[in-house]
Amino acid sequence: MTASAALPIPPTLDIHLSRAALADALQSDARCGLTSSPKQLPPVYFYDDRGSRLFDEITKLPEYYPTRSERWILDAHAKDMALISGADTLIELGAGTCEKSRVLLDAMQACGNLTRYVPLDVSDTVLWEAANALAGEYPGLAVNAVVGDFHRHLDRLPAGGRRLVAFLGGTIGNLGPEQRRRFLVDLDCVMDAEDRFLVGTDLVKDRDRLVRAYDDDAGVTAAFNKNVLNVLNRELAADFDPACFEHVARWNEEEQRIEMWLQSTTEQSVRVDGLDIDLSFDEGEAMMTEISTKFTPEGLEAELAGCGFVVEATWTSPGDEFLMTLCHPYC
Ligand code: SAH
Ligand code: AVI
Repeated sequence: MTASAALPIPPTLDIHLSRAALADALQSDARCGLTSSPKQLPPVYFYDDRGSRLFDEITKLPEYYPTRSERWILDAHAKDMALISGADTLIELGAGTCEKSRVLLDAMQACGNLTRYVPLDVSDTVLWEAANALAGEYPGLAVNAVVGDFHRHLDRLPAGGRRLVAFLGGTIGNLGPEQRRRFLVDLDCVMDAEDRFLVGTDLVKDRDRLVRAYDDDAGVTAAFNKNVLNVLNRELAADFDPACFEHVARWNEEEQRIEMWLQSTTEQSVRVDGLDIDLSFDEGEAMMTEISTKFTPEGLEAELAGCGFVVEATWTSPGDEFLMTLCHPYC
């Protein structure tokens, strides 16, 4: 049967992170993060249904160039990525709406290798919607969606075939240095010699351009940032008033990263029933909600090498805004 005559295959869903397990993780991360100084939360909790839709809106903002830049690279070079990797399976970590994945899937299909797509994400509803849409669009493609945490469930990724593991969008920049090292070492451990890793990273550039990308005029990033307070209210029976916090995006020169904070506009106390704690915020006190590290090609290559990866090819977008790197484990 030729690819065009193939029938759609219903997608499958493997759940390694149930909603209850995610709620448990939030409870322990929030207890630790909200009682530390400065207060902080891991960015994974941004992505409830509303947060995922808001992120999708961010990707279309005039100020938010990373998605367009990465998309440009994919449009120009996905064929090379497919050829060099020779992969039949695309695994995508933090896949979200799987929007850019189509470019890679098309290129792999054009090379005649494509058999399987494995998107992994914590956000189950968005993932399942995307998996269904893709299964319809790519008859003959086995779509095996995985609800999981890329910090904890890399060892559950389906084996077999020749796999291209993609980590797009610059999401690796949302991990701190030690977390990145752990992630890369774990990934290296589960990859076979023939597998390839494709990672998208935002590059260091003009500070104002960076800050504007995280503080847009329409206020979508502010809404995305504040949405984490709604998540805490809903999941932990807290009483955060989002109107009493301001979205702040700042460039940390030393760490070469954008940081997103929620700054209290007033002295206030917040009850978190689910943790049985009362938090106090001083006026102007800020809670860190996300880091978004920016890289240099040399710095990234050194990090990858330190975790067992050899760079095979790199591509940059016009103006050296964004970098995509294809690499493989040392054998
Ligand atoms: N890859 C897409 C989406 C990026 S947004 C793109 O390039 O546009 C980041 C995605 O990673 C979200 O869909 C979010 O739900 C997911 N995510 C964040 N932390 C995660 C984690 N620890 N494990 C799995 N998915 C995660
Ligand atoms: C998902 N991640 C790569 C985005 C970023 O640019 O760090 C998340 C984001 N936060 C604010 N805007 C976009």
